[in-house]
Amino acid sequence: MNDLDLLVQAAEADFAAATGAAALEDAKARYLGKAGRVTEQLKAMAALPHEQKKTRGAEINQAKARIESALQARREALAAAELEAQLRAEALDVTLPGRRRGNGGLHPVSRTIERIEAIFGSMGFDVADGPEIETDWMSFTALNNPENHPARSMQDTFYVELKDAEGRWLNLRPHTSPMQVRYARAHAAKYANLDPMPEIRVIAPGRVYRVDSDATHSPMFHQIEGLWLGENVSFKDLKVVFADFIGRFFETDDFDVRFRPSYFPFTEPSAEIDIRFGSGPLAGKWLEVAGSGQVHPNVVRNFGLDPEKNIGFAFGIGADRFAMLRYGIDDLRLMFDGDLRFLSQFN
Ligand code: PHE
Repeated sequence: MNDLDLLVQAAEADFAAATGAAALEDAKARYLGKAGRVTEQLKAMAALPHEQKKTRGAEINQAKARIESALQARREALAAAELEAQLRAEALDVTLPGRRRGNGGLHPVSRTIERIEAIFGSMGFDVADGPEIETDWMSFTALNNPENHPARSMQDTFYVELKDAEGRWLNLRPHTSPMQVRYARAHAAKYANLDPMPEIRVIAPGRVYRVDSDATHSPMFHQIEGLWLGENVSFKDLKVVFADFIGRFFETDDFDVRFRPSYFPFTEPSAEIDIRFGSGPLAGKWLEVAGSGQVHPNVVRNFGLDPEKNIGFAFGIGADRFAMLRYGIDDLRLMFDGDLRFLSQFN
């Protein structure tokens, strides 16, 4: 190996050691630059005798060409590596799911209320709405609740620090029953000069509030009140309507309905309604699903109607409870935690 081969070898090693474009240009200057080692060799030729100049010149030029091609090869290798690194850094995994706009959905309780509205709607029931902050008269007095009834107590009902026209604290309605009163009074006023008056058939869904909180009670929950009042509407009609509703809501004929005597100030007689499925996941046990009764004459009077001519029933169901039974949910609190992992299962 002559000195020029060694020079080429050294240049190749230097280029290989350069790991970036700037280092490579430095290495290039050491060989091909003005004071570089190849240039030195060319300058040194001046001292050679004339006959040697031609061969030496050709050899140096050959070595120079090899160094230049080694330089070019290294430049390309570095550029390729840089591109490779950049591509890797900016890599896109086209198999990842895209960013979608989230689709909202209805809460299971809203779905349940809509479903119940549709079923009663098909039976000719109107849907009523009313305020969540109520007067004492609407929540209690009109509904025949005696003055000292425990439902009126601070332990059971939330009060608002505002008084109504009678000087009584406003309350967060503890049930949807005040909507019976509001709807019936409006109906009585609207049809005052019609005899007989059209029947009242209404359901009133909405939020209600009670001082109560555990796995099966929430301080805020949803009730749906039903009211059917006419010249001769009886318990028999309640039983037919309620059984029809249950069958359609749960999509089955395989169940029994039972009325269990109970007490509510606003109905007389009063009954709890229980259902028992003959098949399916809930089969076998009696489930309490509604309070009901024949509307008390005092309440009918407070509607502004004659209790001799307006007879019928009311019932109240828990919308959350119906949602839980339908979807197999065992903890009421899940309904109000707002956890998307839970909620998205219904949409
Ligand atoms: N308002 C009653 C409650 O909240 C339910 C009910 C409504 C009972 C209508 C009878 C008739 O417990």
